[in-house]
Amino acid sequence: MSGFNTRAIHVGSEPDASTGAVNPPVYLTSTYAQDGVGVPRFSDYGRVDNPTRAALEHCLADLENAQFGVAFASGLAGEDALLRTLSPGEHVILGNDAYGGTYRLLTRIFGDWGVSVTCVDLSNLDEVRSAIRPSTRMLWIETPSNPLLNVSSIRVLSEVAHLHEARVVVDNTFATPYLQRPLDLGADVVVHSTTKYIGGHSDVIGGFVATNDDELAATLKFHQYAIGAVPGPLDCYLLVRGVKTLGVRMERHCANARAIAEFLATHPAVERVYYPGLKSHPGHDVAKEQMSDFGGMVSFTLRGGTGDARKVCESTQIFTLAESLGGVESLIELPAVMTHASTTGSLLELPDSLVRLSVGIEDVEDLLDDLNAALN
Ligand SMILES: Cc1ncc(COP(=O)(O)O)c(C=O)c1O
Repeated sequence: MSGFNTRAIHVGSEPDASTGAVNPPVYLTSTYAQDGVGVPRFSDYGRVDNPTRAALEHCLADLENAQFGVAFASGLAGEDALLRTLSPGEHVILGNDAYGGTYRLLTRIFGDWGVSVTCVDLSNLDEVRSAIRPSTRMLWIETPSNPLLNVSSIRVLSEVAHLHEARVVVDNTFATPYLQRPLDLGADVVVHSTTKYIGGHSDVIGGFVATNDDELAATLKFHQYAIGAVPGPLDCYLLVRGVKTLGVRMERHCANARAIAEFLATHPAVERVYYPGLKSHPGHDVAKEQMSDFGGMVSFTLRGGTGDARKVCESTQIFTLAESLGGVESLIELPAVMTHASTTGSLLELPDSLVRLSVGIEDVEDLLDDLNAALN
């Protein structure tokens, strides 16, 4: 099977061998019968393995062109399992506009454990190179980033990090494997909040980590069952179901987001639009090189500052004021006080007039009318 949509629909979801059911059964079981002492038929325990989870892991790894994939109970649980491969005294370089929860996990949990972090502008190679220390073990890239939609070159950054034997991690939540496959571009690990586009319907929390490194995969699998932040079988089923339509949803998210970004760019109340699909975006050329389209997220600042930004967020009728992203429905939020409140007072602090849109797959005319009315 070679086409993305064909693989998204069929890999891991072969008709059930005993019944022919075309969808993978939801295996609600915490344990498995053993044919003799220590001879389980499938696995010894539900935390260690579950067939619905295996179907999900198989499919998502395939879509990322990865040999191995491990699913977790949330995006942050997956990040935690990966960061536990570090030792006290080691150092991580993180983009200075990373998701606030990643920053919080690194600084407030792993920081206390002795891991240090330097936040840099990943589009400035001199800054990246000068942040590298002998103890640097990881370069963490989010591209496009949340919520500023900055784009950085996975290929170039991987070359730089590998000269210093640092592992390159890409948070591919915003792009999804439909638009960008970081392992093909030189990265070592891909992380996802599957809560977002992969699930696609705002009804499940999940995480996923993919790699071609067998030793790392074995450690992640060990962390998955030894720590226990596993997704339940129903959640895995929702993700298996969601990912089947990822390709068609992403096409529509991208088309709608492009139309909205172009509309906002000409609106007099809007100060600046952040969307990598706009030619004026500083990362447009890199995005064009490493992504097949520019995604469904758009951010913008308002000339009227924070008061106007709040008013817009509270005035839309179709865009729902809510955190999260990547679902079929459009959402609007104020990152500085909502999703990214944990970055207040830090290097990652955001402008308080910044509005973030997760553009859904509704009719674009309705979305444009909604924003137009809220902005006027
Ligand atoms: C880019 C990115 N990475 C990771 C996460 C964390 O994922 P989760 O909320 O599933 O733990 C989020 C959540 O918003 C995110 O936006």
